[in-house]
Amino acid sequence: MTVTTERTLILVKPDGVARGLAGEVLRRIEAKGYVLEAVELRRAPRDLLELHYAEHANRPFFAPLVDFMSSGPVLAVVASGERVIEGFRSLAGTTDPTTAAPGTIRGDLGRTWDAPVQQNIVHGSDSVESAEREISIWFPFLVR
Ligand code: PPS
Repeated sequence: MTVTTERTLILVKPDGVARGLAGEVLRRIEAKGYVLEAVELRRAPRDLLELHYAEHANRPFFAPLVDFMSSGPVLAVVASGERVIEGFRSLAGTTDPTTAAPGTIRGDLGRTWDAPVQQNIVHGSDSVESAEREISIWFPFLVR
């Protein structure tokens, strides 16, 4: 059987950091058996976030999303492991925490009842190409 080891870029968003959930997210990543390759708490500048979310530039939620992501520190993480890209998105749960399945980060930890949907605790890359692009934005020294 072929083992596909991948890397992914995970962000604990400003709501997750402000709610003290960064450690809980890291715990779930490690408990699943993924390896932490880089972890950095930082305040992201708007130009970095605009690059990160470039594929959504024409969506109505783009500006509010960049506003929110620059509103406080985020924990940027590179994790590796077998099929970690799909695996972490499965750990995270679906985009809207209101309907995310129990057992997932978003399903278990939810959000403040009146908060907009982008306050969904975590981001995870959605493909190998996105992961490598996002890692190059957040951690240029990890580019292969
Ligand atoms: S899509 O349509 O599948 O590309 O969208 P999705 O992957 O679910 O979401 C892409 C990112 O946009 C955020 N998002 C939103 N922000 C604000 N308002 C609304 N309505 C909204 N819908 C989606 C969503 O949280 C994703 O950001 P990340 O940081 O990747 O989770």
